[in-house]
Amino acid sequence: MQKSDSTAVERSPSAGTPQDAIALLKADHREVEKLFAQFEKTRFAMRKEKLADEICNALRVHTTIEEEIFYPAFLDATEDKDLHHEAEIEHDGAKNLIAQIEASSPDDEYYDSKVKVLSEMIKHHVKEEEQPGGMFAEARKAKMDLDALGEQMAARKGELQAQFSNTPPGARRGKNGILERIASAATR
Ligand SMILES: [Fe+2]
Ligand SMILES: [Fe+2]
Repeated sequence: MQKSDSTAVERSPSAGTPQDAIALLKADHREVEKLFAQFEKTRFAMRKEKLADEICNALRVHTTIEEEIFYPAFLDATEDKDLHHEAEIEHDGAKNLIAQIEASSPDDEYYDSKVKVLSEMIKHHVKEEEQPGGMFAEARKAKMDLDALGEQMAARKGELQAQFSNTPPGARRGKNGILERIASAATR
């Protein structure tokens, strides 16, 4: 059925243009899908490792801004605990696999399988967020202030990306790598 919500206008994701919260999150989804597709195509170990690193970083940033900003605002506006809690649990599953990928390398016999399973988990999760009746559609219906949330998330995303880009990949690995510290700070 065609959506009739006249407020459902998404801004162009072009650089420098402010994006509303949903346009920003959807653009992140498309970006990470591209990275997974590139990973699948390459046979070079160094390229694989670089792409997996980019995928893990992008997902860490994305899940953090959702958990810190979008999900709480969604829960507040809709009181839809089922959608909210399921999304958080799916994030937990993805984070577990991300930590495993970051702790290993393409020499690991299971490396490609881990990235493949992560891509499948993310595909499922993204579908749940974007499908009719999913979190994004419900957020639009609830008339959340998506412009303000988009601005807040863009700012937080910039901060997290700067933190990650200043950290050599090796420093992220291991049980108490910076990504885990950021993730635990995010759940304060
Ligand atoms: Fe998402
Ligand atoms: Fe999510």
